[in-house]
Amino acid sequence: MKSALKSRIVSAVEGDLEQIEAALSNNLTPNLSLVKDIAGHLLFSGGKRLRPLLFLLSSRLCDYPDDLAVRFSTLFEYLHAATLLHDDVVDRADMRRGKQTAHATWGSPRVVLTGDFLLARSLTLAAETKLPRIIKVIANITEEMSQGEIDQLEKKGKLDLTEAEYMAVIQGKTAVLIEGACKSGAIIAQAAGEKEAALCDYGHHLGVAFQMADDLLDYTADARTLGKNPGADIREGKLTLPLIHALAQADEGDRRWMEKVISDKEFNESDFDGIVEKLHLYGGIDYTESRARDHVEQAKKSLEIFDDCESKNIMMLLADYAIARNV
Ligand code: IPE
Ligand code: IPE
Ligand code: MG
Ligand code: MG
Repeated sequence: MKSALKSRIVSAVEGDLEQIEAALSNNLTPNLSLVKDIAGHLLFSGGKRLRPLLFLLSSRLCDYPDDLAVRFSTLFEYLHAATLLHDDVVDRADMRRGKQTAHATWGSPRVVLTGDFLLARSLTLAAETKLPRIIKVIANITEEMSQGEIDQLEKKGKLDLTEAEYMAVIQGKTAVLIEGACKSGAIIAQAAGEKEAALCDYGHHLGVAFQMADDLLDYTADARTLGKNPGADIREGKLTLPLIHALAQADEGDRRWMEKVISDKEFNESDFDGIVEKLHLYGGIDYTESRARDHVEQAKKSLEIFDDCESKNIMMLLADYAIARNV
């Protein structure tokens, strides 16, 4: 079922993905080979290209010509890649897109600075649109994302983290970029205000659902498929919705045990299996899936104002895919 949905999407956007891939390589243009190596290590090792694709589809839904949209779409992948490089340093992650993380090879200083380069590259492309509203969207994304990551860092290990605090973090670190990609598609096409608002809504809800799915996969996926090491969140003391919900529902004894495991620096595989068991037992997995499904439904509903067409169909499928995916 998962792979059937993925094949439908991929066959519909194959040509777009090829164009995005080529544009990513053509637009990178660093002066230093070291920057090229580090950026290339992450950029050209897979990745779903969800954000450039959403920009492209949103602009197409608002009748913008493809030839220009493809070039601008890359700015969302550069921005995404910049945040991934920084995020992996902060999270001390050892695997990304099926490979060793960049900082494990080149060290954090070079990787952080390469992230800055990619961020600047995305701002340069934003400026090339000559649309101050796009520049403002991109600037706002970078502000919100950095604050989302800082907020999360500050709350690491906080055992009484609430669902509302979690929502604020994931909106900042993930949904704002996905929303911004969709919104920018409408802005560049000079779409009517109601279309822009609808695409913002779509991107927001898809982004929230997407991060909830990421947080579920961190407990349920296997490393080879995911291309990242599962269990990274709890090892770093990062409480996400499955755990927040399970802690709130657990009986006193189980809650104490879970809290001890989260705080324990010597966390091992059997502790992780035990935690996953409790997440199932206390409904943390089911609850997160159901919240994510609600957001997917809201995302799809936002597209109601658009006439039926190929781009809309694909965006509906992408909303389902945000939570049906296994990578
Ligand atoms: C990973 O994003 C970071 C999150 C916001 C969860 P993706 O799951 O889109 O990562 P790639 O680009 O496909 O590797
Ligand atoms: C999303 O959070 C990170 C960014 C938005 C940069 P995670 O820390 O959960 O993402 P992964 O799991 O490392 O991809
Ligand atoms: Mg991370
Ligand atoms: Mg994650």
